[in-house]
Amino acid sequence: MQATALTLSPDAFRAQDPASWPFTVRRCTPTIGAEVEGIDFREALDDATYLALRAALLTHKVLFFRKQAITPAQHVAVARRFGELEVHPMFTNHPEHPELVVFGRDGEKRGRENLYHSDVSWREIPSMGSMLRCITCPEVGGDTIWINMAAAYEKLPEDVKSRIANLKAVHDAMPAFGAALSEEKYAEMRAKYPPMVHPVVRTHPETGEKILFINEAFTTHFANFVKEQAYRIGSDYRPAELDLLQYLYRQAAAPEYQVRLRWQPDTIALWDNRSTQHYAVQDYFPAVRHMNRATIIGDRPV
Ligand code: SIN
Repeated sequence: MQATALTLSPDAFRAQDPASWPFTVRRCTPTIGAEVEGIDFREALDDATYLALRAALLTHKVLFFRKQAITPAQHVAVARRFGELEVHPMFTNHPEHPELVVFGRDGEKRGRENLYHSDVSWREIPSMGSMLRCITCPEVGGDTIWINMAAAYEKLPEDVKSRIANLKAVHDAMPAFGAALSEEKYAEMRAKYPPMVHPVVRTHPETGEKILFINEAFTTHFANFVKEQAYRIGSDYRPAELDLLQYLYRQAAAPEYQVRLRWQPDTIALWDNRSTQHYAVQDYFPAVRHMNRATIIGDRPV
């Protein structure tokens, strides 16, 4: 196992020359997403190819690879090149490879990832990225959408940027996961994963970009809105707080910042979870859609 993944600094990232990358990259939109050809994940990645892929990931934020017929063990091995993997405490995990979340959706179990989110933003250290592989999918339906949250931040009006510059927000797993847990499991998870405070605007550790880091699935409220906005009685500040939060959530829904992937079996999506959100479209029930996800541990947002 690789103990520490090689990463890039903002300077090393800026010095990258895409013309030298040993694979081809085709952009899917002007803002986010690219399809990569010339990579076979059944073979180990040498350091130069891995670093070029990492640079491509930082540039395009989500990369798509077709026809990757890899085993769960190979999936774990390639994801580990990008960093240590987490075991998700609330999803179903692969019986032999607990680092893989198994999304087994069918007529009995409906997909519930159809809300804009950044994976595990409720952790103290949210994930750096994820690698999602399609095992089975409907012929049509079950697409996934990713959103460039650096672009969403960059294009905010300047007065909104000033209003949110010092804000912090509370992220909590329970609004999304709590209802599916038994009382005992809920109490255990609540104790283990208390609500977590992160900056509303984080700085990407490898690119230096500023990112709008709130999402409708896990961000429940601002931690310091009241301190920032003087008030007379509680009802003075609450509408403004809710309006601002709703406004920020809605940025992820702008098609201008999005890319949408139509899956095929053995397609892999690799995304930077620090600078994106995603949304799994649930338009296929009761058809079968079966995916495995490796989730790569990141860093504390600053
Ligand atoms: C996820 O939210 O990570 C799952 C996305 C998907 O199933 O498309």
